[in-house]
Amino acid sequence: MDLDGLRVAITGAARGTGRLLAEAFAERGAQIFLSARDVVAARRVADAINRQGAGRADAFHCDLAVPDSVRGFAAAVADADRTSYLDVLINNGASYIDGDDLADVSDDTIESVMAAGGTGTVLLTKHLLPLLRASSRPDVVNMISTCGEVGHRRSGAHPAFYAAKHAHAGLAEILSHRLRPEGIRLISLFPPDFVQNGPRQADSDLTAQSVIDCVVFAVGQPRDCFIREFHFEQVRTPHS
Ligand SMILES: NC(=O)c1ccc[n+]([C@@H]2O[C@H](COP(=O)([O-])OP(=O)(O)OC[C@H]3O[C@@H](n4cnc5c(N)ncnc54)[C@H](OP(=O)(O)O)[C@@H]3O)[C@@H](O)[C@H]2O)c1
Repeated sequence: MDLDGLRVAITGAARGTGRLLAEAFAERGAQIFLSARDVVAARRVADAINRQGAGRADAFHCDLAVPDSVRGFAAAVADADRTSYLDVLINNGASYIDGDDLADVSDDTIESVMAAGGTGTVLLTKHLLPLLRASSRPDVVNMISTCGEVGHRRSGAHPAFYAAKHAHAGLAEILSHRLRPEGIRLISLFPPDFVQNGPRQADSDLTAQSVIDCVVFAVGQPRDCFIREFHFEQVRTPHS
């Protein structure tokens, strides 16, 4: 995969899968604009990437639940000294909440989950679209979830998490269609619960590494190959 020199923005990248995605692209020579709610934690990730020496990373604050923060991240990436284009936007950040019943979490929590996964993701995509349009190979990668699939009921996630992921999936669906004529690929992943580390066997849980390999593969394809969605067969019942 030739990802050398790619300019990649990613949200929720101070830990978990977001961090692993940032590292995977950087290892292949990409220049990373990584953001997180905790900018100090984001800087630690960027520093670690910069010490490795392949790609470079800059760290930014971005709370997807706060529109001004989202606009601030987009504006900072677009800063003329930094870059005049963006090759890949990875919409990764999202708050997970458990709960069978709507009343299991506070109104404030519901508001922030919906704001981050819904409004914040739409706004960031909107504000980074001019930079993506200036790229010769633009991709928007969406880390969604089985909870964003129509008819999925197997997760113990709170209904607001389902709703936020459906909002993200709806955005990806229509943008994939509308941006295709411009050559902008929307690559959306709908994984079930996966583990950060673990064996990569047929009877094991899906691993973050396998999810990341899907992203790297799809972004690395030539431009005639538009992989729109990744869905995963969930062979194990949750928590079995
Ligand atoms: N892990 C799974 O089993 C699984 C399954 C399906 C889909 N996914 C999706 O894959 C993506 C990454 O998953 P993960 O395993 O790393 O999940 P995770 O452990 O729940 O981490 C979520 C990430 O999103 C960030 N985040 C939460 N709220 C945010 C906000 N308001 N603004 C900006 N960032 C925010 C978190 O940052 P903080 O450090 O600030 O909390 C964290 O980096 C998420 O979209 C998740 O929903 C995960």
